[in-house]
Amino acid sequence: MMKFDQILHNRKSTRSFHSTPVKEKDVTAIIEAARIAPSACNSQTWRFVTVIQKEIIRKICHEAMRPVVPNKWLEQAPLVIVGCSQLDIVANRIGGRITGIEYYQIDLGIAMEHIVLKATELGLGTCWIGWFDERRLKKILKIPKRIKVPALLAVGYPKDDSSRKRKRKPIEKIVFSEKWGQPFTPFSLV
Ligand SMILES: Cc1cc2nc3c(=O)[nH]c(=O)nc-3n(C[C@H](O)[C@H](O)[C@H](O)COP(=O)(O)O)c2cc1C
Repeated sequence: MMKFDQILHNRKSTRSFHSTPVKEKDVTAIIEAARIAPSACNSQTWRFVTVIQKEIIRKICHEAMRPVVPNKWLEQAPLVIVGCSQLDIVANRIGGRITGIEYYQIDLGIAMEHIVLKATELGLGTCWIGWFDERRLKKILKIPKRIKVPALLAVGYPKDDSSRKRKRKPIEKIVFSEKWGQPFTPFSLV
């Protein structure tokens, strides 16, 4: 079994998939990883639609993507997980109104990344998709108006491993110690 650190380091966005369907037990396992995720006030605002029917995935790809980055590769994905948010959950909505923080987006982001990491452990590739037309997508999948769809995930067995590892900023650019702008040192309290 992959160690957690390997899972973190092995994960990268996959945009080329084998047509092999994702095993039922793997679908169950990745959804379970989302189900146990934390959420603000434990409000569990996330909802998911799993799509495996080729013609629906094709429709999503042809009708619900956006120009410039049309995510054409999505058509080959054997599984698309549509990340939805239920906005009418009181604790989440009132809390968000007071603080100005969209907790449902944080909730869904965590749950979907749980899916991504569990999928990586199972040898599946994933790619987040945030560049799509929400209105058109909701129409295709008959998702009610009150539901928000912030992101999708393409899931499948990766076809090739040639996609490059994308660079990350160095620690000192993204972390400060004690106060904003102060260089990060893990020992600043010592
Ligand atoms: C919220 C979100 C939305 C994204 N939307 C898209 C997308 O629409 N199309 C795409 O090809 N990649 C998309 N990505 C993938 C990012 O481009 C990718 O994670 C980033 O370049 C880092 O590369 P890596 O995932 O291989 O480490 C998205 C990622 C996130 C987290």
